[in-house]
Amino acid sequence: MRGEILSAVERRNMFLAPDAYKLVEENNEPMAFINSILNAMKDNQIFITKQDVLDFMYGDKGTMKEEKYIKPAVKFCSDIHVVDSTDITGKSTCTGVMKDFSKYFQDRYRSIKRILESNRKFGQSMPLAKALSYTDREVHVVGIIYSKNTYDNKSIGLKIEDDQGTVCNVYIPADSPASKNIFIEDQVIGIIGTPRKNKDKDKPASITASEIINPDVPETNAWQNSDSDSTIAFLSDVHIGSTTFLEKSWQKMIRWMKEASTSINLNYVVFPGDVVDGIGVFPDQEKELSIADIYEQYEALAEYLKDIPDHIKMVVHPGNHDAVRPAEPQPALNDIFTKTFDSNVILCGNPVYVEAEGRKVLTYHGRSIDDWVSNVQQLTYNDPIAVMKQMVVMRHLAPLYGQKTALAPEEKDYLVMNSIPDIFVSGHVHGAGHLNYRGIRMINASTWQDQTDYQKNHNFNPEPAIMPVVHLGNGTVKMMNFRT
Ligand SMILES: [Fe+2]
Repeated sequence: MRGEILSAVERRNMFLAPDAYKLVEENNEPMAFINSILNAMKDNQIFITKQDVLDFMYGDKGTMKEEKYIKPAVKFCSDIHVVDSTDITGKSTCTGVMKDFSKYFQDRYRSIKRILESNRKFGQSMPLAKALSYTDREVHVVGIIYSKNTYDNKSIGLKIEDDQGTVCNVYIPADSPASKNIFIEDQVIGIIGTPRKNKDKDKPASITASEIINPDVPETNAWQNSDSDSTIAFLSDVHIGSTTFLEKSWQKMIRWMKEASTSINLNYVVFPGDVVDGIGVFPDQEKELSIADIYEQYEALAEYLKDIPDHIKMVVHPGNHDAVRPAEPQPALNDIFTKTFDSNVILCGNPVYVEAEGRKVLTYHGRSIDDWVSNVQQLTYNDPIAVMKQMVVMRHLAPLYGQKTALAPEEKDYLVMNSIPDIFVSGHVHGAGHLNYRGIRMINASTWQDQTDYQKNHNFNPEPAIMPVVHLGNGTVKMMNFRT
């Protein structure tokens, strides 16, 4: 805590006297307390004395004696942290050479294979080469899909590969329930089937699938109630700097936060990307910008975030409009943009797992929704929650390689959903909705930007100014509408 308090002071180029520090440390909510003090100091003030802290607490005159100092009775919780192993920030190793891609897809394959093998119905799999040596028995194999063909009679042919480099064809008869499965390239699946030898020895052998197993989450997965009384809110796609930023709706939400957020113990707010509108993201974007300078966009954002009550811890990660590499996983916003942010803002990469009072929150901006929608007939922009459900079924946020979502070939595939989240939130498509899927609270977290001309031309109808709030104890979800 000491480090956090002192770095908050340092960020403002101020110093805190040791006896002033003691008063801050004794407060029940030291970070919220020091932030309020810092906000109240004069611009040119450099040194914060004990008297300054007492003045802040008891008015300008500072008439109260030190002995009468009583700890304010606040009961705010701030038990939230980023799960470091899920955050790419500072850990990127890829240079884009072939070896990187090989490692990246090997990690994807092995991570999802582990999930598949933890499914009792599927159990242990065998390498493709070994499976193909049998013709008289059922085999369980894991493959990454290289290509897919649907034939006239509705049967499906897949070409799959395993981590040993063995390639094989998988045939799914039209009358098999397995043919109803959604298949996309670079997805990892489990296959139960029977191998067949090919008469032509130059052609690879194949497997006729009787069942396709998706990694998914178990049907028995459920939300376990806890004694937490806190709530967590999500504010996606704020788009500061856009001419269509909904200032009035935002201010209405801020007024509510100031007056009533403590009534529902709102202690955490997550921003799932596109916190600013950015520059040069789409053609002629400059015509739709009220702030045309990227640094100024983040400075303006810092000011908007200062209006959020100090006891609320915020988590901010980038989206495709933000000023970091577009390739996913994206690292946290650089300090050159965020130096004016308050210390109650936690910066991290996209995607990332955050733990709030023991709850696992997976937050992902959602760029890949574009690729899901353009490659899977059953999925549409009108139902982003259905897309998120497919991500859970495949336990991968962006399986398709080589589409609109650039994927950086890191040593580890950060887009695999390695652990089952309690809450899974996404943004990007500016929709608002939620669904309880096998215990997971899935949320599409709206936007604070009205429809832009670009969106109008692309028939994109946003549902703005809605703040989803989840109770961390019992999992109830509320969609709070602040549209003016
Ligand atoms: Fe956005």
